[in-house]
Amino acid sequence: MVGIDIGSYEVKAILLGKTPDGYAVTRHMSVPIKKGAVNDHDIRDTEAVTDCLRQIKQALPKGIKYVAVAVSGSAVMTKVIYMDASLSEEEMEAQIEIEAENLIPYSLDEVSIDFEKLNTNSVDHSKVNVLLTACRTENIDGRVDALDMVGLEAKVVDVEGYALGRAHELILGQLPDGAKNKTIALIDIGANITTFAVIENGETTFIREQAFGGEQFTQSILSFYGMNYDEAEQAKLQGELPRNYMFEVLSPFQTQLLQQIKRTLQIYCTSSGRDKVDYIVLCGGTASLEGMTNLLTAEFGVLCLLADPFQGCLYADDGIKAKLQPQINKYMVACGLALRSYGQWRT
Ligand SMILES: Nc1ncnc2c1ncn2[C@@H]1O[C@H](COP(=O)(O)OP(=O)(O)OP(=O)(O)O)[C@@H](O)[C@H]1O
Ligand SMILES: [Mg+2]
Repeated sequence: MVGIDIGSYEVKAILLGKTPDGYAVTRHMSVPIKKGAVNDHDIRDTEAVTDCLRQIKQALPKGIKYVAVAVSGSAVMTKVIYMDASLSEEEMEAQIEIEAENLIPYSLDEVSIDFEKLNTNSVDHSKVNVLLTACRTENIDGRVDALDMVGLEAKVVDVEGYALGRAHELILGQLPDGAKNKTIALIDIGANITTFAVIENGETTFIREQAFGGEQFTQSILSFYGMNYDEAEQAKLQGELPRNYMFEVLSPFQTQLLQQIKRTLQIYCTSSGRDKVDYIVLCGGTASLEGMTNLLTAEFGVLCLLADPFQGCLYADDGIKAKLQPQINKYMVACGLALRSYGQWRT
């Protein structure tokens, strides 16, 4: 399965192969998407999305047609419930169906439901934790239909935060020994959304999103220097801004971003009863902004790195790697989706 991350700035796709000790990039591609075509995770302009998907499909090896995509935002609800550990998957499914009305705050006609068995409940060992997910069917269909129009088939529809969490497997090698049993916050700072996934002992236990990202930075460049949108975006990407920009626009943006991150980490700490996370790993296009990791290390007093799976267990031919490594951080969600090829999944 190819992992396709339909972002509001770019649609990103990655295809991974298995190697003895990790994964290898077979193909990757990112295609800019018309501004506004994807808004609040909702596909507003199907044609713009299918244009991107068509380009991706053309770049894929022949015969590749299965895709893992993600939904997120307010259309998605996740909840951890606990059930009797002795139940089979079928029995769980039947029980969830019966109780769904009490468990899910949406009209059942409008949502699709899925569940996944997690670990044994730490308080009552006869129970197992079960992750229950409900998503508005409309949002799933939007993605499934767009893929269908270009001859691709959605085999897996994941939740973006969990796809991000799964990708942590690729960057463990970047962290000090023993990180596998620690708490890692993966923070994906995109154009409009910042997605959090906290991984404890290898399992994603907390996900959250905030409507904040690099787009706000572009907007403040635009208004501060009187540029149009494209000029502002270009100046940002090329680093061609007047010298006072650090003080005038970059640091106010970083301060805001820091506030957002702080708030979300506080929510995590309150809900988990922990006082901090052990590591912070940044990804998403906006994580490439200068000074981000230092800023977070200074603020939170924990090691903060920019995600680079090539320092972990991701491999690629030299040519691909040279081109991809500087921007691999924006592919983390797509990687987490592509990894679904190598786990178990129900059809
Ligand atoms: N080298 C860079 N330096 C600074 N910002 C960058 C760089 N490369 C990309 N960006 C910014 O990152 C953002 C795009 O990130 P990304 O591709 O992760 O977003 P997305 O997944 O499409 O959007 P979202 O998840 O928010 O819907 C844009 O705001 C872009 O300007
Ligand atoms: Mg994104």
